[in-house]
Amino acid sequence: MPSTRTIGLSAPYLDEREEELVLDVLRSGRLSLGPSIDRFEELFAEAVGAPYAAAVSSGTAGLHLLCHSAGVSPGDEVITSPYSFVASANCAIYEGATPVFADIDPRTLNLDPAAVETAVTSRTRAVVAVDIYGYPCELEELQAICRRHGIALIDDSCEALGARYRGTPVGSHGTPAVFAFYPNKQITTGEGGVVTTHSEEEWRLLKSLRNQGRADGGGWLEHASLGFNYRIDDIRAAIGIGQLEKLPEILALRSSVAARYGELLEGIDGLGLPLEDDADHIRSWFVYVVALPQGTDREAVIAFLDERGVQTARYLPCIHLQSYMRDRYGFREGLCPVAEGLSARTLALPFHARLDESDQEHVTRSLGEALGR
Ligand SMILES: Cc1ncc(COP(=O)(O)O)c(C=O)c1O
Repeated sequence: MPSTRTIGLSAPYLDEREEELVLDVLRSGRLSLGPSIDRFEELFAEAVGAPYAAAVSSGTAGLHLLCHSAGVSPGDEVITSPYSFVASANCAIYEGATPVFADIDPRTLNLDPAAVETAVTSRTRAVVAVDIYGYPCELEELQAICRRHGIALIDDSCEALGARYRGTPVGSHGTPAVFAFYPNKQITTGEGGVVTTHSEEEWRLLKSLRNQGRADGGGWLEHASLGFNYRIDDIRAAIGIGQLEKLPEILALRSSVAARYGELLEGIDGLGLPLEDDADHIRSWFVYVVALPQGTDREAVIAFLDERGVQTARYLPCIHLQSYMRDRYGFREGLCPVAEGLSARTLALPFHARLDESDQEHVTRSLGEALGR
C-alpha cells in the first residue's frame, strides 16, 4: 500500500526574520535598486571572503555574465563538466560558443584537471569549473592550466556556498565565482544568484551588464553597452540577508544531517557514499547523493522508494546526453565514460537542514529494503 507520509527532496530554512525583512522592504517602497541589494552584497562578500559581490537574478544569469565579460564569442570553445546542471554549459552557448566536455574524477565527481588539459585547443576561450554537490573542485590545478594557456576560468560554485578549499572559502581564491539561491540551495532568495570577483573593474562591469548596460553615474535611459536585465530585487535581497544571518547555523545543521545519513547507510553493502572531506576540501552540503551498487535497477529503486513516500531524484543526467545537446552538437555515449557510468547509478535522497532523524531512518531503511539488504 502506498505510504501516506511523504518525505520531500528538499526544503528551505526560513523563519520570521525573513518575513520581517521583506515587510520592511515592502513598507519602504524601494522594491528594486534599493539599499537591501547593497547590504546583501556586502554580507555575501564577507561570507565568502571575496572583495566584491554583484547580486543577479539567478545563478545562470551570473554564469552568462562571466562568459560575456570573458569575451566568449562565436567560434570559441568553452570546457566544462558533463556531470553538472545544464547552466554550466548553456552559459557558453548563449554567447555562440561550443561547449566541450572533459571527463570527471570518479572520486570527487568534479572536472579531472588532466582531462581539461587534454581538451584545450587553440579555440578554447574559457573553462567553467563546477563544485558539484558542494565539493570544491581542483581550483589550483585548473588555475595553473588556464594561466598557462591564457584562458579564462569561471568557478560555478552555485552548489557550494560555505565550502572551503585549501583553508579558505570557495569564492576567496581570486577566480570569479557564481553562487545560486533556488530554494533547494544552502540559502535561498526564491530565485537569485551572486557573482564574486577580486577585480573592481570586473565588478563594475558586472553591475552595468546586469542593469541593461547602464554606465556608473549615467542617466536611466543612457546605455553604454549591450546589457541584460539580470537584476535581483530588494525583496529577494532582503530574504538573502535573513538567510546569510543564519548561514553558520544552516551549514551546521546540514552537516549533521549528512553525518547521520553516513552512519545509517554505512552498513549497506556496495552503496557508494559521498566523498569525505580532507585537509584541502571541505564540502558544503547541498544534496545527499549515493551511488547505487553496480547492476542495480535504479528505476525499480526509485519506484519502491516512491511507494514508501520517499522522494528521490536522478542527480545528475550528463549534460552532453540531453536531447538538445545530441541534436545540436552530435554528442553521444562514450564521450565521457566516467561521468556517464556514475550518472546512471547516482541518486539524490531527501536532504535539508530540518530533516529529522525518524525521516532519515525511514529513508535509509526503505533504501536498504529496495536493495534487498
Ligand atoms: C551547478 C549549478 N550551476 C548552475 C545553476 C543555475 O542556477 P539557477 O538555477 O539559479 O539559475 C545551478 C542551480 O540549479 C547549479 O546547481
